[in-house]
Amino acid sequence: MDILIRSDAEGVAAAAADILADYARRGATLGLATGSTPLGTYQELIRLYEAGEVSFADSTAFLLDEYVGLTPEHEQSYHHTIRHEFTAHVDFDDSRVHSPDGTAADPWVAAQEYEQAIIDHGGIDVQLLGIGTNGHIAFNEPGAALNGPTHVDTLQPQTIADNSRFFDRPEDVPIHVLTQGLGTIQRAGHLLLLATGEGKADAIAALAEGPLTTMCPASVLQSHPRATVIVDEAAASKLHHRDYHRFVEENKLPRKN
Ligand code: PGA
Repeated sequence: MDILIRSDAEGVAAAAADILADYARRGATLGLATGSTPLGTYQELIRLYEAGEVSFADSTAFLLDEYVGLTPEHEQSYHHTIRHEFTAHVDFDDSRVHSPDGTAADPWVAAQEYEQAIIDHGGIDVQLLGIGTNGHIAFNEPGAALNGPTHVDTLQPQTIADNSRFFDRPEDVPIHVLTQGLGTIQRAGHLLLLATGEGKADAIAALAEGPLTTMCPASVLQSHPRATVIVDEAAASKLHHRDYHRFVEENKLPRKN
């Protein structure tokens, strides 16, 4: 995998937006993520759109995950969040912004339908990812099936605690979620994982330098043929090989694989 280290969150956002804008210019299918980390990237993409440098008119989007039980109008549903933070501010066709149906009578059926919708569409070209402090990607918590499809999952206490900042009370955080599986994510053509801040440093070290294990779901990036991890200095601070990654990027050297 490529590991790009930037001095701060703005640098991470600029590098990620550059990559995503290139895909959008080709009308690619974008896998979008919610959470705090990609917000700067979305703001940069909106800026590029307003400057006439990118259009999303030919793109399709699939979201990574959704809370079970939140209506699409709920402020904290990811259906609402992605529109509020990004797609409504650019020329994305709203009918082409897809997310799992958190209000389906049977969430397991909704999970299967979402998996099938991605396959029928022809897959995802580039998948944007954050990482949880416990190493999760999307809502694949430690212990998730390494090659699993879109499924219903139950959040772990650490994730509920991390996400409670978006809700009035911790008990308002839904416990159940619909999430693309680690198998779904790995079928995307290019994985683009972003992390900023010291709180993510352990998870980034485990992702890049620990074993490939379901106990750190993000470690599946190690086996993907095209993964790019963009981190700020703080999130990179526990990587033993950070000087090597800087050296490789500065000298435009080929990747190890
Ligand atoms: P964050 O969440 O970007 O809000 O830190 C990332 C994640 O939980 O995947």
